Amino acid sequence: YPDAPNSDQVLVGVIGGSGLYHLDNLEFVKTVNPETPWGFPSSPITISRLPSGTRIAFLARHGVGHTINPSAVPSRANIAALKSLGVKVIIAFSAVGSLREEIAPGAFCLPSQIIDRTKGVRVPTFFTGSVVSHASFADPFSKKLSAWLEGSIRRALEKEGRAVALHTGKTIVCMEGPQFSTRAESIMYRQWGGDLINMSVLPEAKLAREAELGYALIATATDYDSWRPAEAGVTAADVFKTLRANAETSRFVAATVLEDLAQSVSNAKEGGEDMLSILTEEEGSM
Ligand code: ADE
Repeated sequence: YPDAPNSDQVLVGVIGGSGLYHLDNLEFVKTVNPETPWGFPSSPITISRLPSGTRIAFLARHGVGHTINPSAVPSRANIAALKSLGVKVIIAFSAVGSLREEIAPGAFCLPSQIIDRTKGVRVPTFFTGSVVSHASFADPFSKKLSAWLEGSIRRALEKEGRAVALHTGKTIVCMEGPQFSTRAESIMYRQWGGDLINMSVLPEAKLAREAELGYALIATATDYDSWRPAEAGVTAADVFKTLRANAETSRFVAATVLEDLAQSVSNAKEGGEDMLSILTEEEGSM
């Protein structure tokens, strides 16, 4: 898919999940709505300038008015549209359920593994024609980007004195939905080693890998799903209750992390630091 001209290049794409439909602290540049071979993205993409001048692209996964359910998100168009703008890395946000006592609603998480429980209704590849390609997906998230985000998010939370927990190295189950899991399923996912559950990280992460983009997920816990015996199972109302506070923290985290990233990019250009290698590392297909 062709890259955009350099002058307009946007290195970082942010995908907002439930509750996160815009970002703060950014100077609006323009809105674009590129038509890709896979159709239009979920929403027009907002291109903004960080205080340092670096441009970023923001896309609301479920549409700006949250009109697209997880099974119907046009993930191929979303990833292709971001790639067409020149994006090299994607920082995706998602509201998730917690399958572990120690991951309380309100916590942030950078997962490292995924268990696929989508049901085949989402096309998980760009390679549906005569081209066969098997992307490596053993480590579904960019390790470098996730590790860098961990440091940046911890610094941001500490600086503001925000008592928000950040967990790393967790396994996220991606289920089909739109209904939540049964108690039996929720307990089974725990036995499988699942720590978190959502409906949106796939096929997005697979497509980002095929497109050779670095991809990391900032998961924000909204509920305890349905595995706790003494509690009522998760409801949409539970999710919405935590969603607003999480979205506010997500906007703060995004603004701080993006500025940190922009700073690292310009430092990297001068001093040859790590960030440039994150931005230029092609996540492997074979
Ligand atoms: N998104 C937020 N909470 C969830 C849950 N419990 N199950 C699936 N997706 C979710």
